[in-house]
Amino acid sequence: MDAFIGERLGLEDEALAAALTTAEEAGLPSIQVSPPQGRLLEMLVRMLGARRVLEFGTLGGYSTIWMARALPADGLLISLEAKPEYAAVARTSIDRAGIGERVEIRVGPALEALPVLEDEGAKPFDLVFIDADKVNTPNYFAWAVDHTRPGGLIVADNVVRGGTLAETNSEDPATQAQRRLHDEIAADSRLLATTIQTVGGKSYDGFTLAWLRHDRR
Ligand code: SAH
Ligand code: DHB
Ligand code: MG
Repeated sequence: MDAFIGERLGLEDEALAAALTTAEEAGLPSIQVSPPQGRLLEMLVRMLGARRVLEFGTLGGYSTIWMARALPADGLLISLEAKPEYAAVARTSIDRAGIGERVEIRVGPALEALPVLEDEGAKPFDLVFIDADKVNTPNYFAWAVDHTRPGGLIVADNVVRGGTLAETNSEDPATQAQRRLHDEIAADSRLLATTIQTVGGKSYDGFTLAWLRHDRR
């Protein structure tokens, strides 16, 4: 179905296809967002009129390209990636996509990059996409809530985890983290949020969308 949707709607262009080929040839895991999800990210960036985007987890730069090309020429996407060899692959594909000047990749554990962003006095982000190590999703999310503008959006991938999200007694740390994420979202009146289940080329999973409401702060 993902292949059908991707083909019928003409979602992937040359630069995106090349990013996948390059990542595969470099031996990166094929765990990037699907083309329909990539288009959704592109639409969200455009609908928000986003100028500043923060991404957790670059991999080969596939989701990065979807989002960065939706930014204005003077927009900025900062992407955090733990593995230097992945970041190098991403850099190649992002530059080839022609949006290199809009993308800054910071190499190292994301949790260590956050205090640096803080010290730089980074302006609030319009959209934050959380897609790195899943146990830290709630930590990244909490930081994102404090660094996203009112009216901005936080998207977290891989929160449903084959449906284990609903299992009270799950012992999987990544699942427990998504359960904690949902508890914290429920308790935060600054947010209007939902979780959408997904099925497709990336198996059964889902993403959370959390909007920083500007009508109640
Ligand atoms: N967003 C990408 C997929 C990211 S896969 C896309 O859709 O195209 C998850 C990525 O997070 C991997 O590249 C992994 O190396 C990275 N990662 C894992 N732990 C991390 C950490 N602590 N800090 C930053 N990146 C991390
Ligand atoms: C994994 C990471 C992802 O971001 C994803 O969408 C699917 C799988 C993983 O680490 O296995
Ligand atoms: Mg993911």
